[in-house]
Amino acid sequence: MGAVAATTTARVEAGTGQMPRHVAIIMDGNGRWAKKRMLPRAMGHKKGVETVRNIVRAAGELGLEALSLYAFSSENWKRPEDEISDLMGLMRSFIKSDIDEFTANDVRLKIIGNYRALAPDIVDMLDDALERTAKNSRTTLAVALNYGSQDELVRAAQAAAAQGAITAQSIEANLDTADMPPLDLLIRTSGEQRLSNFMLWQAAYAEFWFTETLWPDFTKAELARALDEFAGRERRFGGR
Ligand code: FPP
Repeated sequence: MGAVAATTTARVEAGTGQMPRHVAIIMDGNGRWAKKRMLPRAMGHKKGVETVRNIVRAAGELGLEALSLYAFSSENWKRPEDEISDLMGLMRSFIKSDIDEFTANDVRLKIIGNYRALAPDIVDMLDDALERTAKNSRTTLAVALNYGSQDELVRAAQAAAAQGAITAQSIEANLDTADMPPLDLLIRTSGEQRLSNFMLWQAAYAEFWFTETLWPDFTKAELARALDEFAGRERRFGGR
């Protein structure tokens, strides 16, 4: 374990800090990473998947209960067709190659967003992966696919209305994240500082942490640094 992670652990063990239960990441900067190296954008996404793999491992090692990753937004359909097809190809190979490791590491896969609108073979692969990891319980990995938070909120409000009453509780119970711990920390890489339609409701009391690091360069040590800073923040949830 690196020095940074040790600090986190020390603070948490000393009871002076708090460990986030649920961390969400807006993985940004794959394109710029590739451009800096004069590589095609697809190479940035490919390297981005390696980071996903490392960070999912790190999340378990650092003791997170839940990790949410923004992989494909409902607005990403606006990208050129060949880039969408590269991203979907990466998704296919990621599911194929990583599900066994999820099971070995007790990771439960969850998909948030309207993933049923993706290509039928991906939907089948995902359904299979969801079923195969359903009983795992150490870490929940929520991958956002065809996800848009405004769409999620509309669906949640409609479901709540159909059940009889629209309240904060009934909306929350119908969000895609309903069975996950509350969002504690939201990270965005690559220097951009906006939510881009990600977890609008869930972010109400989350702490935000931004880094200039491009997603393909993001590491476990940097995640540990974010957790360490989180541990030092005072959260008041509107009180004082
Ligand atoms: C932002 O880079 C990132 C994305 C569009 C999505 C992230 C996708 C991956 C890491 C790969 C697929 C994920 C999985 C789980 C298999 P950008 O293209 O917006 O970068 P830029 O802003 O520098 O152009």
